Amino acid sequence: MITEAVRRLKDGELVAFPTETVYGLGADAKNSLAIEKIYATKGRPSTHPLIVHIAAPSAVTTNQQLSPETCANEWLQVLTPWVRDLPPAALQLICAFWPGPLTLVFKKDKHVLDAITGGQSTVAIRSPNHLVAQTLLQQFGGALVAPSANRFGKVSPTRAADVCAEFGDQAEIMVLDGGDCELGIESTIVDLSSSDGLRLLRPGSITPAAIYAKTGLRVDSINTASELSLSPRVSGSFKAHYAPNTPLYLYQADHLMVSLEKLATQLLEKNHPGKLRVAIGIWQGAKSVSTLAADAALSSIQLEFFTLPNEHTSFANGLYRSLRDLDQQQNDAIFLPEPPYGEIWDGVRDRLQRAAFGSGPSSANQVNS
Ligand code: TXA
Ligand code: MG
Repeated sequence: MITEAVRRLKDGELVAFPTETVYGLGADAKNSLAIEKIYATKGRPSTHPLIVHIAAPSAVTTNQQLSPETCANEWLQVLTPWVRDLPPAALQLICAFWPGPLTLVFKKDKHVLDAITGGQSTVAIRSPNHLVAQTLLQQFGGALVAPSANRFGKVSPTRAADVCAEFGDQAEIMVLDGGDCELGIESTIVDLSSSDGLRLLRPGSITPAAIYAKTGLRVDSINTASELSLSPRVSGSFKAHYAPNTPLYLYQADHLMVSLEKLATQLLEKNHPGKLRVAIGIWQGAKSVSTLAADAALSSIQLEFFTLPNEHTSFANGLYRSLRDLDQQQNDAIFLPEPPYGEIWDGVRDRLQRAAFGSGPSSANQVNS
């Protein structure tokens, strides 16, 4: 399978492959026509840059005990064709976290194609920690650009079947099946290209606290108090992304009832035919909410409860899978609880808020609670 995938990539075709985060839609990073196919297939604006995926040096993958100098030298060789300026912090981060779910943004080498970077002066690079992805990259012998293998703005795929569902009508896309992705949300992105220090561009499994603990480097985090506010009232300030077709609402534990009643009223005003079907995620071990179902105000709603893991890695692992499965179940709405405060939940919170904002056939899901 990998041999066939390599042949296709060399022919300028697209191959979807698993990583530890989500499935990527890969193309030869040196082939502008193949890169154009990615934008066309995803329906992605050409100004939205792509991540370059590189193979880990074999000395790194076969020998865990490399000295920091040897490790840095090994990575330096694979990065040199892509990066103009490699600050010392970069090599510290790379030796601590690569291969792994950390994407780094560098000033780009002049040979990096504009098609990858959207004409910007920077390039994003990562080395995925997944055997199939690494084997593919090694055997291909070059770098692959790989956005998440979904149509632009939609839920990222974490199973091969999700990729097939997304692009099933396009037989020319080969999909390598590596089972379920371990982490379930996209890599953390840290920008190293600015003189103002390291900046977190996208939260993920590797948090600024984890980076500090391993390297002593400080990454400026997104301001959780304002930009990542938990209130659904500000969801209009977030871009739509990772979105299911079914309207998704985030609820505060104490306001579930109020939010449901508002939804029921809104939909009744729109003369929704028959009983509404609403899927509601509740935290594992949370107080029973079955009494809700008996509430007279909600008699027009059929409530389907399901439990969610309290632990952030398990939640992230199942998040996109659940959103995709729930989308198949003909629900009129999905309700998920807002995640707890705290940096370890930032990746999940970011995805949920964007998903809620972009969900549904229109933006009709802004329940003000
Ligand atoms: O986990 C991941 O990163 C997955 C797997 C497949 O590796 N890939 C992924 O790619 O999430 P994509 O294209 O769905 O998201 C890439 C993000 C976009 O938000 C893009 O704006 C950002 O990376 N990005 C790419 N190049 C950049 C650059 N030069 N500067 C700033 N952001 C960049
Ligand atoms: Mg994506």
